Amino acid sequence: MNAQLKPHTQPAVALAYQVGFGQEFASEALSGALPVGRNSPQRCPYGLYAEQISGTAFTLPRHSNRRSWMYRIRPGVMHGQFVPYAGGEAWHNRFGDAPFAPNQLRWDPPEVPAAPTDFVDGVFCMAGAGDARSQSGIGIHVYAVNRSMQARYFVNADAEMLLVPQQGRLRIATELGVIELEPQEIAVLPRGIRFRVELLDDTACGYLCENFGAALRLPDLGPIGSNGLANPRDFCTPVAAYEDVTGDFELVQKFDGRLWRAPIDHSPLDVVAWHGSFAPHKYDLRRFNTLGSISYDHPDPSIFTVLTSPSDTLGAANLDFVIFPPRILAMQDTFRPPWFHRNIASEFMGLVHGAYDAKEGGFVPGGASLHNCMSGHGPDAATFEKATRADLSKPDYIDGTMAFMFETRWLLCPSAQAMEAPQRQRDYQECWQGLNKHFDPSRR
Ligand SMILES: [Fe+2]
Repeated sequence: MNAQLKPHTQPAVALAYQVGFGQEFASEALSGALPVGRNSPQRCPYGLYAEQISGTAFTLPRHSNRRSWMYRIRPGVMHGQFVPYAGGEAWHNRFGDAPFAPNQLRWDPPEVPAAPTDFVDGVFCMAGAGDARSQSGIGIHVYAVNRSMQARYFVNADAEMLLVPQQGRLRIATELGVIELEPQEIAVLPRGIRFRVELLDDTACGYLCENFGAALRLPDLGPIGSNGLANPRDFCTPVAAYEDVTGDFELVQKFDGRLWRAPIDHSPLDVVAWHGSFAPHKYDLRRFNTLGSISYDHPDPSIFTVLTSPSDTLGAANLDFVIFPPRILAMQDTFRPPWFHRNIASEFMGLVHGAYDAKEGGFVPGGASLHNCMSGHGPDAATFEKATRADLSKPDYIDGTMAFMFETRWLLCPSAQAMEAPQRQRDYQECWQGLNKHFDPSRR
């Protein structure tokens, strides 16, 4: 067995987590801080305030209903007036009404800015569809930052956020506890949960998907059975942790596609205890149980779905988060790399680590590509030539890699700033132009 394909067993950090996906969690940083037998007693333990946050409509079916109760030092309403935030314009959702060409697009990684830039200011909108008003669609961004958020906090009222670090470890202090994250792990931060992003290394870059639609959940497994893909026990939700500090702070909120700021004189991360099902979590992509063909061909990439946000059409996802992890390809009489295809879904790809098996070069860690609905794409010429001559008597070990895809049923409109960015590879389509004509009607 190749070393890269062994299960990842060592936790990156020694923080405590609760394990499981979408269930009822309960945690208290002070013994006895959680009320017993009721959510809103006349007086909460330790003089705390009770506050509920609902992540879904109150009346959603029980299995998809999400809410949490927080027991906090001050209620979440205590902050000043919101006014437009002067910075951070690069992550406004500006995928609007303008028509755009169905060209295949690809970008080099973003550059870390020279000026001090934290997570609020370091997000760059690449593409998207829909908005928070319609509670449908996604916003796709990259981030490149070089310092921790200082004396300020962030909250996204528009969207649940899926963070995919590519370089640099993050410490995300949230209302419901602390998550530490490294590349090849992901974090999901629910809509409306306040947090602060700190850097554990000098710089950090990665990808961020805003999900305006239904909350991400594990896909159904169908004939796969009761195990496989991302297993629920590998999702880690933080334990309660609180800050009891006052000062001259700022709360930045994303709301209606743009950023707003309000003064706040205390840390909003002051939740001493909480229970419920609406909470952040992280997942180590190296724990994904990758399934595939053991005979011929390979299945559609939906077999690699980690999390999905359904739309109101059964099976047509608002967002699928799909990964291409290390795996063994042993299929016979098969073109083993991803095939040529045109899909009804739109696909935004990123690369966390290593190389992607459909491309010989040009798609590098930290970079991105966008193939919209019905835009043809697939292996480049060099990959095609190599794969059609490969010795299939031996398995291929696809190792040391972690590519991913944000896939959606919607058209993904690239932002104007992404189209104008120096990182955009203007010659991307050249990678397919060397595909030779092999057709010979006289020879089978
Ligand atoms: Fe594709």
